[in-house]
Amino acid sequence: MKRIFSGVQPTGNLHLGNYLGAIRNWVTLQESFECIFCIVDLHAITLPQDPEELRANTREVTAAYLAAGIDAERCVIFNQSAVPGHSELAWLFACLTPLGWLNRMTQFKEKAGKKRDIAGLGLYAYPVLMASDILLYKASHVPVGEDQKQHLEFCRDIAGAFNRQFGVDYFPLPEPQIFGEAARVMSLRDGTAKMSKSDPSDYSRINMTDDAATIRTKIRKARTDPDPLPGTAEGLEGRPEAANLIGIYGALAGISAEDALVKFEGAMFSAFKDELADLAVSVLGPIGENMKRIAKDPGYVEGVLHRGAERANEIAQRHLAEIHDIIGLLDA
Ligand code: AMP
Ligand code: TRP
Repeated sequence: MKRIFSGVQPTGNLHLGNYLGAIRNWVTLQESFECIFCIVDLHAITLPQDPEELRANTREVTAAYLAAGIDAERCVIFNQSAVPGHSELAWLFACLTPLGWLNRMTQFKEKAGKKRDIAGLGLYAYPVLMASDILLYKASHVPVGEDQKQHLEFCRDIAGAFNRQFGVDYFPLPEPQIFGEAARVMSLRDGTAKMSKSDPSDYSRINMTDDAATIRTKIRKARTDPDPLPGTAEGLEGRPEAANLIGIYGALAGISAEDALVKFEGAMFSAFKDELADLAVSVLGPIGENMKRIAKDPGYVEGVLHRGAERANEIAQRHLAEIHDIIGLLDA
């Protein structure tokens, strides 16, 4: 059976990029894969988090998974810190990781900015922990947004390094699954910047819990250019905001960007935005409502996480015993 692992950080402001780039695809994949979906709280604390907010955000991401249609019976849903094996395997992998590999990671460079000397070791080792998440379960496939591509290559490199160093064929080299029009949803304020949880402007993103009126206002205010929409992809060149909105429309409607362009060729943004807003409200509205309903029952949410952690731990412990044996660590 092919096994999937993926995760989202509980850092608040879950947005349309998280939904279209990741969570929505998981709902389909659960039909044909054994799936493990994690709320990666240990990754979240690579940057400072308020403890109360971290707890609330962990419940919120869980509610988002469930509201989007992930089935807690069929899939394993849990928070990373509840399975100690993630941190342990991260150490074992850290001992195999050349610093040169970490120095190439663009996300670290972006997040550390100019303050590299005061950035934390956890932020630097972030890709090592991510490789551990995936390989602890020997996952074969990892559905993520485009921004995680480099981290997945790193994970494959680690798996290969382990297999080579110990002369085994133990870890699979996990395949990234990066889907379609919405693998990279951009900010509504700047078509060259990724839609992000940490953008200070709430108008840059559509949050999964935004109500209909807020979604409409954000789409109406989204940055555009003065020209009508073109009929082909070439016409979008140099028009990142138009390309982004067309990509979002296509992803929400389940059609390609090309087909969306055929539909809106020659339209002005005002008319296109009205249709986009209707579509976004019809897709996200029910999920947001569901999230709020589920989040009102923390006992239920924590029950899901608790059962998920038990199932995850079982696989993790079995694999860790094998890994200890390969490395030569005595399990006395
Ligand atoms: P994060 O919010 O960084 O924990 O990301 C969780 C998942 O959402 C990952 O699979 C990301 O690749 C995906 N993701 C985050 N932002 C975007 C975006 N703007 N467009 C598409 N996918 C995204
Ligand atoms: N780094 C991912 C992100 O920010 C989250 C993540 C952590 C993840 N561990 C993972 C995604 C393992 C896929 C598989 O989006």
